[in-house]
Amino acid sequence: TNLLSVAQTQSPYFPIGTIAYSGGLSGVPGDLVAKHFNSLVSENDMKWSALQATPGVFTYANADAQVAFAKARGMKLRGHTFAWHEQVPAWVFQDATGNALPATPASKALVLQREVEHITQVLNHFAPEVASFYAWDVVNEAIDASQADCMRKSNWYLLTGTDFIDTAFRTARALLPASVKLYYNDYSTTDPAKLACIQQLVAGLKSRGVPIDGIGHQMHISLSYPTPAAVTHAVRTLATAFPGLSQQVTEMDIKISDPGYALYEDIPPAVHAQLGYAWRNYFNALRSLNGLIDSVTLWGQADNHTWLTSATRTEAPLLFDPSLKAKPAYWGVVDPS
Ligand code: XIL
Repeated sequence: TNLLSVAQTQSPYFPIGTIAYSGGLSGVPGDLVAKHFNSLVSENDMKWSALQATPGVFTYANADAQVAFAKARGMKLRGHTFAWHEQVPAWVFQDATGNALPATPASKALVLQREVEHITQVLNHFAPEVASFYAWDVVNEAIDASQADCMRKSNWYLLTGTDFIDTAFRTARALLPASVKLYYNDYSTTDPAKLACIQQLVAGLKSRGVPIDGIGHQMHISLSYPTPAAVTHAVRTLATAFPGLSQQVTEMDIKISDPGYALYEDIPPAVHAQLGYAWRNYFNALRSLNGLIDSVTLWGQADNHTWLTSATRTEAPLLFDPSLKAKPAYWGVVDPS
């Protein structure tokens, strides 16, 4: 059985994606990616710190290899990401001598100019392959729902206000065809305060004529939290507020919280079964949305490579075990019954 073919025959169809990382696309792991997925996103290699660690020096080798892998196999790509408070080099917010830029209009102009230059360089580089891309996470995690104005007090925000968001979307839109949809991507989108902040952000963007096409729900979740009903509620809320807004699941994984097992082999079969039912329930919930979610990307393939880093690395958040064997989680996705 292959994940993709089974998922594709289920209604409604949505592309199923996974991450590309250095070493993850060669040999048997690469075969697994090609067999089960039809959408790819660079886990790290299209982030600012990977593409332009040094001002004006662009490094595309890893990203290019991942694009070539996708293209050769007829897979589509999500781009990730332009404006994020993490994995952005310190120089973006510093003057030429390495001092932090003060919050002045001149600093704002400089930071926005750097942002425009970065996005322009990167999109010009990928322009020949633009037909392989269908989505781009233009802005990532700009919201902090605990703030009165909803905005994370990142260097981006402290130096430009919300203009870095508008500028990123406008710049990307000017350089990409309409076939590449532009996303605001965030985690905990089921949290009521966060959801309200997202609505406020999208409403503001739309009122200013800023071109946003969709919302990415990262969906880094735990066994049983948030509930599948909370996920569908969040998606429906945004769909109702903004008709025509595209929504995708962009970074899904389901972890055992605070696992504390000494070894991967110590995870009891009953817990793997629980994870299997969770994957089934979440995928059934996503299917039940009848196309409101138009793509689902998992933040990895197998439990030997995950961004989650408990001391014993036993969150077991993905579909395949460290030896690439399908887990109950896999069968939960492919068998909705
Ligand atoms: C993570 C990567 O998986 C890690 O390898 C890296 O060290 C940190 O970033 N939200 C995002 C992703 O939008 O880009 C993050 O990816 C996970 C959380």
